[in-house]
Amino acid sequence: MHVQRDPGFDIPAASEITPRAVYEQRRELLRLLAAGGAGAALAGWAQRSAHAQPAPARPNRLAALPSTRSGVAGAVTMEKPTAYDDITTYNNFYEFGTGKDDPSRLAGSLKTRPWTVSVEGEVGKPRVWGIEELLKLAPMEERIYRLRCVEGWSMVIPWQGWSLAELIRRAEPTSRAKFVEFHTLADKAQMPGVNSRVLLWPYVEGLRIDEAMHPLTLLAFGLYGEVLPNQNGAPVRLVVPWKYGFKSAKSLVKIRLVEKQPATAWNVSAPQEYGFYSNVNPKVDHPRWSQASERRIGEDGLFQRKRPTAMFNGYEAQVGPLYAGMDLKKFY
Ligand code: MTE
Repeated sequence: MHVQRDPGFDIPAASEITPRAVYEQRRELLRLLAAGGAGAALAGWAQRSAHAQPAPARPNRLAALPSTRSGVAGAVTMEKPTAYDDITTYNNFYEFGTGKDDPSRLAGSLKTRPWTVSVEGEVGKPRVWGIEELLKLAPMEERIYRLRCVEGWSMVIPWQGWSLAELIRRAEPTSRAKFVEFHTLADKAQMPGVNSRVLLWPYVEGLRIDEAMHPLTLLAFGLYGEVLPNQNGAPVRLVVPWKYGFKSAKSLVKIRLVEKQPATAWNVSAPQEYGFYSNVNPKVDHPRWSQASERRIGEDGLFQRKRPTAMFNGYEAQVGPLYAGMDLKKFY
């Protein structure tokens, strides 16, 4: 994201970690479906996956976060998840520095308890939620989303969380609530990057209310069946799979419903480069990076071909109607 960096050059070597058994099972299902006998395969599959929690083959596991597979349309891609090590060591979290490995090296200083998230603004029922309350607010679902960064790389991440709509609905938005603003923690004592002026802090992002209420818009508390590592936005973050990764604000502390389109951190810092909508769109290039194709992290061998980027990051069937009639070149 940072204006001077070309991220294409610092992708780490692919991890050797074997993807978790449950993800292997999904691919097996695909093979079975291709070979016929789909009915029987599906019956066994549904039973297994409802209880399957991935067991990371790592010595220092984080707390387990049980979940069941999401039934939301489009919420579970069958693509191979990126290795845990890659997801947790190749990060953008500028509060801890602009290097890809800065967050995994430095985010250990982030204290994620106690933690609260306030929901306020144009709502009938403003409330400050404790993180433990949020963890129990709705059934934890497993969602396997593609994440496409504007820098030209992508990952597939198995998240634990539930639809943001669950929380917003409980706040009872007023008729003036047209947008939602997301504020994240900006604490110089815990986050060394906040001392730099690379962005205006706190990191603020925004969505239109219908985007925020879309069932694919996720509040994530975990990945790979464990609580989020700090570098991925612990204890709770946003994930908007059809938008560039920077919309998915980490370590949320405030959700504010507002009448006017919010000023967002990236749009304020470089308005020519980052619009408000930021929908993944292979036909609209970023001034410095083509958006037509992407490099999947973990597949970065010398002869590895880039993958074509899909409109709305492959979620067009689910979210295309939100933008009917809009000029997406203008509203980038
Ligand atoms: N949230 C905060 N608070 N600070 C950040 O710098 N970076 C964004 C987004 N959320 C960022 C953030 C960007 S540019 C991306 S691509 C994703 O987080 C990366 O998420 P990941 O590290 O979990 O893959």
